[in-house]
Amino acid sequence: MKSQISGRLLLAGILAVLLVAPAAVRAQQVAATPPMGWNSWNHFNNKIDDAIVRAQADAMVSSGMRDAGYVYINIDDTWEGDRDAQGVIHSNSKFPDMKALADYVHSKGLKIGIYSSPGAKTCAGFEGSLNHEDQDAQTYAQWGFDYLKYDLCSFRDIMKTASSPEQAHQMMVDAYAKMRDAIKKTGRPMVYSFCQYGDDAVWQWGPAAGANLWRTTGDISDHYARMEEIGFAQAGLSKYAGPGHWNDPDMLEIGNGGMTTDEYKTHMSLWAILAAPLLSGNDLSQMSPNTIALLTNRDVIAVDQDPAGKQGDRVWAEGPMEIWSKPMADGSQAVGMFNRQSGPMSFSVDFAKLGFKGKVKVRDLWAGKDLGTMEGSYHATLPAHSVILLLVWAQ
Ligand code: GLA
Repeated sequence: MKSQISGRLLLAGILAVLLVAPAAVRAQQVAATPPMGWNSWNHFNNKIDDAIVRAQADAMVSSGMRDAGYVYINIDDTWEGDRDAQGVIHSNSKFPDMKALADYVHSKGLKIGIYSSPGAKTCAGFEGSLNHEDQDAQTYAQWGFDYLKYDLCSFRDIMKTASSPEQAHQMMVDAYAKMRDAIKKTGRPMVYSFCQYGDDAVWQWGPAAGANLWRTTGDISDHYARMEEIGFAQAGLSKYAGPGHWNDPDMLEIGNGGMTTDEYKTHMSLWAILAAPLLSGNDLSQMSPNTIALLTNRDVIAVDQDPAGKQGDRVWAEGPMEIWSKPMADGSQAVGMFNRQSGPMSFSVDFAKLGFKGKVKVRDLWAGKDLGTMEGSYHATLPAHSVILLLVWAQ
């Protein structure tokens, strides 16, 4: 009898481990899908402060962005103050109490991110983490931060002292790995975001140095020319992305006013196909209904956040006409038809070229409309700088 019970208990225990352990392991992995949130830099630059960050957290909830999947409220450069006699970093007068701010953001069901540099100074000339990596990681963890963007900036000056490009490269890798280890020692899970502008093919060594995401380019700006230069240059990088480690073509500019709605749709669609981090870079407290609609389209976000974590890539291009496709977990494909020309263009998607045989079912994600069953190809005329984003299933 006794042995029967303990046999059952043992079996139940084994089952529990089998069922529960993978979930627990998954829960510990940060950035299982591309991080979604907001970052202060694109819109607020050095004008960011405690009150604005709180207002962004409030607006992320009231606008419906949190419910659409946005999580992180990330403070970028210019929060840093001086170090005290023990070398502990303090925030400057714009941020009177970082722990209270983190608590506030957490109380909204959101997470919070911070920014530093492996150099002595950040890009905006504030205090960096050089020689204070462990101390700073501990401080961020004590304050309650969940995310660190680590920006190369003045560490480049240190790299100039290297005797060879190989040595300079190793110094950079070591600097990023050092902060990875410092974060690990805190015991607090943090998303670790590399920002070194894509130098030295960071996608090849970033994950091993601890990156959950790594910038692949220089800075974006709120202009179509710069956004498309960055976005379409991501071709070929798809094999480096996956759950826990993502290519980062920089933050979103949607809602900042420098692009048309079609251009912002191109921005959002391309970033979704790229499985890019979706970090909005606008003022969330001042959004038009159109901006909210662009940032919270569930179908488009589902492309970015697909659990398979496969980054899409370019499958066809002819001059300014491009087709990109992203394989989805359920066997469907997200397909973007992009017109990069400043006038209308007509072209077709050939379903056989995407690997489909026979009939397919098609949904237009921005229109929110099922287009029904099709065979062969889909033809469309696209206005200047516009996109059609489709989801295509085998019938
Ligand atoms: C660099 C980064 C930007 C931003 C600024 C802050 O330019 O690439 O994203 O963090 O520094 O100074």
